[in-house]
Amino acid sequence: MTRAPIPYGRQDIDDEDIAAVTDALRSAWLTTGPRVSDFERAFAEFCGACEGVAVNSGTAALHAAVRALKIGPGDEVIVPAITFAASSNAAVYEGGTPVFADVEPETLLIDTASVDRKITARTRAIVAVDYGGQPADYDALRALAAGRGIRIIADACHAPGATYKDRKVGTIADISAFSFHPVKHLTTCEGGMVLTDDTEMAARMRRFRNHGIDSDHRSREKTGTFSYDMVELGYNYRLPDIQCALGISQLRRLSHWLDRRQAIAARYDEMFADVPFVRPLTTHSDRTNAYHLYVIRLDLGKLKVDRRRAFDHLKAAGIGANVHYAPVYLHSFYRERFGYQPGLCPNAEAVHREILTLPMFPTLSEADQDYVVRTVTELKHL
Ligand SMILES: Cc1ncc(COP(=O)(O)O)c(C=O)c1O
Repeated sequence: MTRAPIPYGRQDIDDEDIAAVTDALRSAWLTTGPRVSDFERAFAEFCGACEGVAVNSGTAALHAAVRALKIGPGDEVIVPAITFAASSNAAVYEGGTPVFADVEPETLLIDTASVDRKITARTRAIVAVDYGGQPADYDALRALAAGRGIRIIADACHAPGATYKDRKVGTIADISAFSFHPVKHLTTCEGGMVLTDDTEMAARMRRFRNHGIDSDHRSREKTGTFSYDMVELGYNYRLPDIQCALGISQLRRLSHWLDRRQAIAARYDEMFADVPFVRPLTTHSDRTNAYHLYVIRLDLGKLKVDRRRAFDHLKAAGIGANVHYAPVYLHSFYRERFGYQPGLCPNAEAVHREILTLPMFPTLSEADQDYVVRTVTELKHL
């Protein structure tokens, strides 16, 4: 019997999700309707934030955050070297300059000592990426930012439900961005949300997602007016009601999914404890990890294969391993636009050669997880 491939991440859609989407399709509002604010309220409440602004991707959420903080040409934004490119692209969209900080080798979180060295008089924001689902060291970042006009943006796309010193991600930074892509904790197909406690910034981000126009279709219908003003250059970053309906329905299962992800991670940790060439990333004791990703480091000195051969071995066995991520500044665009070169962030470059992301999603079965661990263990014989 051939084994079904095991992806690294997978969404879970049930009949209630489908019914919720069908209801939205039959309603009067396919977009800019009541489900948008319902989803914003529900997700903000889950995370403990005052305001949620729904947008059509995590990337749009980060872009809205950068605009809300009025970052522009001449401004520098510090971003960890190991993240998805969207974390730094957001600053580039607004003409800002991304400055890359190194990461902690054991967690791949932004290294606060490196951030300290990268701060200049032009630094306007730090993007704290909650890599893999573990919150960055927000208190240390806040201490560095304090009194210097530097704001903290959480790229919390990996971390809804994670906690830092008992505070939930989404309530710690000035603005926090989330993604609802299908591999994430909950999905709206594509989608994202910005959370903040600042109502004025939230209002500006709602305007930004709607072309920079001071009202939307529904509010004009309510007030019986046809005129509107476009007060800034915005975008169409709106998240339709159909997708918000899916998000609201998915949210009911988020706590359960977080428990599942943590149980799967604990089981991986236990099974890898006596595999000498596997070092799972670690979680700081003052945080809980939402485990969007389960990432291991291969001790290549103990193996005859490199990461490429290890990846190929897993792939040939039907395991959808992945690599999150190459240092962003090594992408052609960043080298060409900003002149970045190898050697900028030594930890990021070294650890990147050792990492593999293994399958992690709430419906991963124990049998499939056992098979993944067995296949990783085989690397010592290659
Ligand atoms: C850390 C991080 N930031 C931002 C994004 C962008 O999210 P989206 O794909 O929803 O635009 C992602 C998505 O993979 C991500 O992993």
